[in-house]
Amino acid sequence: GEVDYHETVDSTNDVALAHCRRRAVDGPLLVLAAQQTRGRGRGANSWWSVAGSLTFSLIISPTGLGVSQERWPQASLTTGLSVCLALDHVVPGIRSALKWPNDVFLNGGKVCGILVEVAEGSTQSLVLGIGINVNNSFVDAPPELTTIATSLADATGREFDRTEVLIALLKQFETQFRRLAANDPQLPADWLQRCALRGLTVTIETPTHRTTGRCAGIDPQGALVLETVEGPERFFGGVITSFE
Ligand code: BTN
Repeated sequence: GEVDYHETVDSTNDVALAHCRRRAVDGPLLVLAAQQTRGRGRGANSWWSVAGSLTFSLIISPTGLGVSQERWPQASLTTGLSVCLALDHVVPGIRSALKWPNDVFLNGGKVCGILVEVAEGSTQSLVLGIGINVNNSFVDAPPELTTIATSLADATGREFDRTEVLIALLKQFETQFRRLAANDPQLPADWLQRCALRGLTVTIETPTHRTTGRCAGIDPQGALVLETVEGPERFFGGVITSFE
C-alpha cells in the first residue's frame, strides 16, 4: 500500500477524504501525520494533536479488502477490536477493552479514539481514523483528563516505538477486516468479549431520547443492547453519557 506522510495537517481524515474525492484509491492508503491542527472526533475531543501520540487514517477501498457495504456499519467495532488485539502484543498483560461504539480503554482510561467515515468518490471507500495515545502522558494533565484518558506510556511507565505500534495495528486491521469481509461468525463474539460496558448501568443519548439500562453487550449486528424497564432495547448510534 501507499503512505502519505505529513509533518502537520489539519486532520488525517480530511486528507484521506480529499484523496478519495480526487481519484479512485484502489489499494490500502495510509495517511500519517506527526501533528494535526484540527483533528476531528466525536463530541469535543481535543487531545488528538499532541506530540507522542499516533494519528493516522487508513483508506479501505471496496476493491481492497472486499468488505461489502452491508458490513460497513460494523467497521467501527472491527477497528476497535483490531486496536485491542494489537495492544495485546504491544502491552502484553494489560487487557484493553472496547467502549461501544468507538473507543478503546486501557486501565479504565481512554487510550484510543476511532472515527470511521465513508468517503465519496467515483466509488465509496471507508476511512478509518485512529488516534492513539502512545508516549504522551496524562499524569500531569488537568484532573478532568487524568481520570478519563491514558496512554501506553502512562499504563506501563515506558516509552514505545510508534512505528512498531503502527505496524502491529496495520497487521490487525488486515486480519480483522478480512474476517469481516468473510462474515466470520466468531467476530461478533470477539467484540462482545471485549465490551467494556457489559454488566454496567449505561445512559445513552440519541437525538430524540435518553435511555438508561443495564448493558447486556453488543449484538451480532453491532448494536448496543440495554436492558431497560421496558425490556431490551438496541442502539445503532448515540452517545454514552454515563456508565458505572
Ligand atoms: C473520538 O474519540 O471521538 C474519535 C477521535 C478520532 C481521532 C482520529 S486522529 C486521526 C483521525 N483524523 C481525525 O481528524 N480524527 C481521527
